[in-house]
Formats: sequence, structure tokens, C-alpha cells
Amino acid sequence: MPISIAIDGPAGAGKSTIARRVAGKLGFIYVDTGAMYRAMALFLLRKGIDPTDAEAVSGRCREAQISIAYRDGEQVVLLNGEDVTPFLRAEEVGNMASVSSANPQVRVKLVELQQSLARTENVVMDGRDIGTVVLPQADLKIYLTASVEVRANRRYLELTKKGEAAVLSEIAAEIRERDERDMTRAVSPLKQAEDAVLVDTSQMDIEQATDAILALYGQRVEEA
Ligand code: DC
Repeated sequence: MPISIAIDGPAGAGKSTIARRVAGKLGFIYVDTGAMYRAMALFLLRKGIDPTDAEAVSGRCREAQISIAYRDGEQVVLLNGEDVTPFLRAEEVGNMASVSSANPQVRVKLVELQQSLARTENVVMDGRDIGTVVLPQADLKIYLTASVEVRANRRYLELTKKGEAAVLSEIAAEIRERDERDMTRAVSPLKQAEDAVLVDTSQMDIEQATDAILALYGQRVEEA
């Protein structure tokens, strides 16, 4: 059975950067499940579908063929054959994904894809429900978090570095709103799995968080 490391946590905790690094160090593939939900959101946005219209989302999401591929070691997401990776990080797409990912039909489709990847590859997979729903048998589960203030500040710096206009208080409000939606939805809400290890990155940089997870993995391997 291939090895799997599940990393869950709220938006902005540094999951993707840290998960990518952990995967790189271990020679595992990195699976960014948020990007899959974002690709589905992009599909719905392009079709002009109201994300709160559950019936429309359930029906139309079947038309979206989502798959992932690796180019130069980086995950790319294909939506009906088109590489949509460059469009996925837009705020509009993230906000749509937070709403449309609550749809059970969307989740069933994408969870299947995620589980099939973990059946054949050693993976570091990040998301919201990896340790609780997608890979309950994961070899190591991490719940990666940081305070709202720290997460908002990181996002603010990321946006301003790209030359985009950003208001810190608005970003913090959006993060709170997204946390609330992700943690309280009926289907697969974000929560720490009972057997997950909590890693709070509020006072850690990327290097320290990566090393902390690698150390935890090393302990698991020794114990096995
Ligand atoms: O991690 P992210 O910001 O790229 O995720 C985008 C949205 O997708 C997020 O608001 C919640 C949702 N998501 C999810 O419901 N389940 C996952 N495993 C990953 C992401």
C-alpha cells in the first residue's frame, strides 16, 4: 500500500507551500485538492451557474471532467482537457469554491479522484477533509493552522507583492467568513481528525513547519 500524509487546515495556514516541500523532500507526489475544487468553481463561474442553486450545481458538475497531471514536478489541473492552473488562484474563484465545494455531488466526484491517486502513489495531500474523509487510513495526519491575523497578513503580503490592491481588514474578514463556511457546512466540514497532530504555524516560518512535519513523519516510520 502506498504511503499517504494528510494535511488539513484553514485557508492561509501555509498548507500548499509546506505540503509541496514535504512531498519534495520525501519524493512523494503533492496533491492539492483545493485546486480541484477551484477548477470546479471556475467551470461553474464560466457557465454562469449560481453556486447556491444546489440543483443546478449537482446537475451541471457532471459536465466538468477534472484531472491532474504533473509538469516539471508541479501539479497542473485540467478542466475538460484545458490547463486551467493559471486561473485558479483568483479571489473570485476561491470564494466560489468555498460555496460550491459544499455541494455533495461535487465532493463525491472529486473525492473519488483523490482516493484513486492515493491508491497508486505515495502522496502528500492537502485540503479540508483529507484526514477525516478522503484518507482516514493516512499514515500521518497533520492539522495545520495559524491565527486569523497571521493568515490575513500573509495573504496581504502575497497580494501586494504581486502589485494587487489589498486591504488587510477586508482580507481578515474574508478569511473569517471562509473559515466559518468551511467549518460549519453539513458535508465534510473542516475539522481536526482525532488522530491528527496539530501544527500551529503562527510563530513558524515555512522551513520550520516543513521540518516539524518531516520530524513527525520520521517518528512514525521509526514506530512502525
Ligand atoms: O485550499 P483552497 O483555498 O485552495 O481551497 C478552496 C476551497 O475549496 C476552500 O474554500 C474549501 C474547498 N476545499 C474543500 O472543501 N475540500 C478540500 N479537500 C479542499 C478544498
